[in-house]
Amino acid sequence: MNLKIAVLAGDGIGPEIMKQGVAVLNEVAAKFNHKFTYTEALCGAHAIDEVGDPFPDDTFKVCMDADAVLFAAVGDPKFDNNPTAKVRPEQGLLAMRKKLGLFANVRPVATFECLLHKSPLKDELLRGADFVVIRELTGGMYFGEKYQDNDKAYDTDIYTRPEIERILKVAFDTAMKRNKHLTVVDKANVLASSRLWRLIAKEMETSYPEVNTDYMFIDNASMRVLTEPTFFDVIVTENTFGDILTDETSCITGSMGLQPSASLGEHTPLFEPVHGSWPQATGKNIANPIAQILSAAMLLEHFGLNTEGQLIRKAVDASLDANVRTPEIQVEGGNTYGTTEVGKWIADYIKNN
Ligand code: IPM
Ligand code: MN
Repeated sequence: MNLKIAVLAGDGIGPEIMKQGVAVLNEVAAKFNHKFTYTEALCGAHAIDEVGDPFPDDTFKVCMDADAVLFAAVGDPKFDNNPTAKVRPEQGLLAMRKKLGLFANVRPVATFECLLHKSPLKDELLRGADFVVIRELTGGMYFGEKYQDNDKAYDTDIYTRPEIERILKVAFDTAMKRNKHLTVVDKANVLASSRLWRLIAKEMETSYPEVNTDYMFIDNASMRVLTEPTFFDVIVTENTFGDILTDETSCITGSMGLQPSASLGEHTPLFEPVHGSWPQATGKNIANPIAQILSAAMLLEHFGLNTEGQLIRKAVDASLDANVRTPEIQVEGGNTYGTTEVGKWIADYIKNN
């Protein structure tokens, strides 16, 4: 298969982990006779520094022209502590999601048996947890009308029927491919937007009789994902709730550095780690490349390259089992490996297996 991949490495540790993601893709291409071509483009703080825009038009064009976007991370503390900064790297991310119409953010949450102890939660509670959060990504408060003066400010949590229907369709379809259990997470006891979500979900339920659909308030769901994570199969929720909930669920895996995601929608699909740009670690060769590598696996699986995706997953599991791990998940007293060494180990495993 020929795939044109837009490579957006971004800021901080982004370029370091991206290098490993691409190296793994190259190994897969060589092994399975695929042709992956890459076009790099600017985004985030780098793009602000170079061209004054966190998601420049040129980058948008590169993305639109590609079959898929492989993204790493954006963000730089020099913008966080500056309330007068007019443009921020995060705006690039939001512009990119909106312009590419990436309304469905798929964030899988799975555990690795050998890393259960790295989670702050109890092993017995985590064992077997395997679910996916589908977060609506281009609506709600993030994009609704905003206003701010010195005495008053608001963000509008607005959703339209078509926006809700299309994300729920992704959720129901995902549930059909998994264990047919969908949990719709909202705040329908308080919010009108949530009541519309619930109304539409109930309508759509009838078209998916095989899916066991239930409804949970976001406050309760925030507790349940930590006290009974094995309850869940597919969760669907609106943008802001999904943002908060997926940071919470990231502690189930034991390290932020292990979690990939996909953002799907109208135009080019995008694959990226859930974690951020970790500026403090830049250039230190300590960031875990696995989230990026698994994002590459999700990319391949999106195009039906399941054997290839599976091999990457197997290689990642093998690296963990072989204790080839970055510092944050290192075995007590064991060696630590750098970003480059972990990436190379995984790429070599693909070559040799
Ligand atoms: C995420 C991030 C972004 C979001 C920020 C960086 C704008 O937290 O992808 O979860 O809030 O969506
Ligand atoms: Mn977030």
